[in-house]
Amino acid sequence: EWWEAERSKQTPEAKAIEEAAHLLRASEIPVAFPTETVYGLGADATRSAAVQGIYKAKQRPSDNPLIIHVDSVDMLDRLLNPTLQSSPSVAKMPRIGIPQIYKPLIERFWPGPLTIILPNPSGSELAAEVTSNLTTFGVRMPSSPLARLLIHVTDRPLAAPSANASTKPSPTTAQHVYHDLHGRIDLILDGGPSGLGVESTVVDGLCEPPAVLRPGGVGIEALRECAGWEDVVVAYHDSTLDVKEIPRAPGMKYRHYSPKARVVLFEAGSNLDGVVAHVRKDLQDTAIGAHTIGIVRTRNWAQGLNLAPAAEMARTLTPVSAAIDNLVSFPIPVLETGSPSSRTKMAYDHHLGSDAVSIAHGLFATLRALDELDVDVIYVEGVSDRDGDLAAAVMNRLRKAAGMEWKV
Ligand code: TXA
Ligand code: MG
Repeated sequence: EWWEAERSKQTPEAKAIEEAAHLLRASEIPVAFPTETVYGLGADATRSAAVQGIYKAKQRPSDNPLIIHVDSVDMLDRLLNPTLQSSPSVAKMPRIGIPQIYKPLIERFWPGPLTIILPNPSGSELAAEVTSNLTTFGVRMPSSPLARLLIHVTDRPLAAPSANASTKPSPTTAQHVYHDLHGRIDLILDGGPSGLGVESTVVDGLCEPPAVLRPGGVGIEALRECAGWEDVVVAYHDSTLDVKEIPRAPGMKYRHYSPKARVVLFEAGSNLDGVVAHVRKDLQDTAIGAHTIGIVRTRNWAQGLNLAPAAEMARTLTPVSAAIDNLVSFPIPVLETGSPSSRTKMAYDHHLGSDAVSIAHGLFATLRALDELDVDVIYVEGVSDRDGDLAAAVMNRLRKAAGMEWKV
């Protein structure tokens, strides 16, 4: 009823949502919209041409399946029972339900950042491009009210990957989407910055024991508290978690979350003197020269990396443009005196915060901001995978951005 009132008033917000819903139903060009995790690039999951539009806009390989977004369990129920819609006479046939294993998860985490894998029913309405011809599909109900309203008004399940250009860090603001996709899409719904900042957790309860295919907004400890999920295993590749299985979520084998700059990740607990020594050596070794470096701190590098004599550095700390909040730049005087590299002139230093929630929230935005500053290399202080619900997701994204991890 709230929506009906809003629509009848024809507020700018209501008009934008109606236009987005119209494009989603009619156009073959996807529409970007906010969710609580990251911005999504949405298309009607039942129309092949529309779903192909997502792969085109993102330049994403089409063997990578997409997550379906529903506004209600009811919409999911209709997806699982396609024949009941076309023919009322089969209404007496038993309905295909959501597998019991998922009930406690849905109860606890929906709407929210959790994607479940379900068997794609025979006669499925889902476009083949959504599932990349797998026999299963991934689905979630976002907690973002704007996302759910958009799905409701469109009255279609929406396939939506993150709305970045393929391989880039995921977008957590409408501006990030614009940066990557302008000229490729017609409309971005701006709902402000995404609250969480990392994507949903993807779980597979169809296998025994159930598995986490991608770490995300719901932590593994929280999953373990649910009936049937006590023995959940991780099935994504992350070295510190000692996973032997090959990647099972197809998205995992691609280069991902990468800024232009080279990312060097230091695992949690890296010795600080060792880090500084490594950075110095790394800058000396870099054949092309790192003119500009970025430092992203979390817990223990609170005082910054002592690349320059501390007193000198404190004197030269200066804020840069307001557009890049909390990033401070400083020249590295020690570099002029011959070590580590005379070509390195500037460092940008950013403290993401100490807890996984604030780190996740600012992570992708910071990698993007450093790219805007044409940083050559970014040194990142990692956190422990078990340091809060979002920590595993943060480290998973950072390890991918880095391509490898560094231990000191
Ligand atoms: O938070 C999110 O989930 C965001 C926002 C926009 O909702 N969406 C998102 O979608 O991250 P996408 O398409 O970028 O991520 C899809 C992930 C990939 O890792 C993919 O491999 C996995 O989900 N996935 C999708 N369908 C699958 C399936 N049938 N079996 C296994 N993994 C699947
Ligand atoms: Mg993505």
